[in-house]
Amino acid sequence: MTSTRSEVPAGALAGRRVVLGVTGGIAAYKAVEVCRRLVDAGALVSPVLTAAATRFVGVTTFSALASEPAATELFGAADPIPHTRLGQRADLVLVAPATARLIGEYAAGIARDLLGATLLATRAPVLICPAMHTEMWEHPAVQENLAVLERRGVAVLAPTSGRLAGGDVGAGRLAEPSDIVAAAAGLLAGRRRGRDLSGRRILVTAGGTREPIDAVRYLANRSSGRQGHAIAAAAAARGASVCLVTTSELAPPGGVEVVRVSSAAELAAAVRAHAPSADVVVMAAAVADFRPVRAIAGKLAKRDGIPELVLEPTEDVLAELGASRRPGQVLVGFAAEVAASTEDLEARALRKLEDKQVDLVVANDVGQPDVGFGYETNAVSIVGAAGVLTRVPLAAKPTIADAILDAVAERLASRADRGDEQ
Ligand code: CTP
Repeated sequence: MTSTRSEVPAGALAGRRVVLGVTGGIAAYKAVEVCRRLVDAGALVSPVLTAAATRFVGVTTFSALASEPAATELFGAADPIPHTRLGQRADLVLVAPATARLIGEYAAGIARDLLGATLLATRAPVLICPAMHTEMWEHPAVQENLAVLERRGVAVLAPTSGRLAGGDVGAGRLAEPSDIVAAAAGLLAGRRRGRDLSGRRILVTAGGTREPIDAVRYLANRSSGRQGHAIAAAAAARGASVCLVTTSELAPPGGVEVVRVSSAAELAAAVRAHAPSADVVVMAAAVADFRPVRAIAGKLAKRDGIPELVLEPTEDVLAELGASRRPGQVLVGFAAEVAASTEDLEARALRKLEDKQVDLVVANDVGQPDVGFGYETNAVSIVGAAGVLTRVPLAAKPTIADAILDAVAERLASRADRGDEQ
């Protein structure tokens, strides 16, 4: 489930047909703002309100704002089969707010009204934006229904925490309209990507390295490997042939070659073996900068006294790749910083890009809540030699992965145009 806050990919909504489903919750008034923003972004919006939604907001409001008149009924309208028409013509079906009832019926395949029927009749991507009281949001029935929908490929934009109806405060508040529209645009942009990396060989590293102290202890960091695994999964979905060098115990994505490593030295050896044939290397791994000079044989015991750990620098794999790369190869590094500001973060990223002679640096401020190491989400600035290319505010790691691969695909395309591929 995402808590996406990406910027609207330019042009993703222009001319696209969006069915905007609105269900009956206090947050229905925010759907008016979602509708206006979709129309402003050039989308052709068909609002579909449930009967309960009309108790909170007027059909006329939506009809006045949207490109098409708002619809509410499964039967009785001039068009005898509006649910199939709406579903078939849609490029995207977006439900905001989505109540527990709508989520439950959709998961169970029940088409009780026009919106339910449209959801079952469409093959377009679907984005569900739940909003409800905290107790309902946290109820296992709701969470399981959402998990079912996500397994079927439905995108879910998680609610935020804040003020709810009746003066309550907690999780379950509808995501902000700007975030909803950004997530909708992101979904449509994703559909356009298709298999744009097919024929490309991509090497991705993931996870934090473990540097042995003795037989049972090691120096490590908080990296989970999720971001690197998400990049490998997204690259494979976009047609690339992917080699994932990982320290992570997460299940690797399907369809990729996996090389399991543990220490910086093992990771370096695996990268050296696979990098020469790669068109792209994405160094998402959190490689230790230092390791104990010597791992102690056996296990240190308290009776041996306090050990003195002497460290030495590890090999900087990325810098090595930057110094030895073949023409046309695209190198992507990461920078995990605790920065004073976004500008500071980006300035540090640019310095890293120049120092290590790479094409792109993905920088995240790990001092921010929910960003980077160990979290499901991330927020990054993607920096190239000419400066900041993209800023992706807090988003699920798969969303960040696609934004990184967008920058990679652009770089590959511009190199092919200039003819500097080998
Ligand atoms: N990296 C590497 N080999 C290392 C250390 C890091 O290849 N021994 C790569 C990482 O995979 C990442 C980038 O280099 O892509 C991070 O650079 P690094 O200099 O380690 O930056 P940080 O550790 O984020 O920051 P600092 O400069 O403070 O060390």
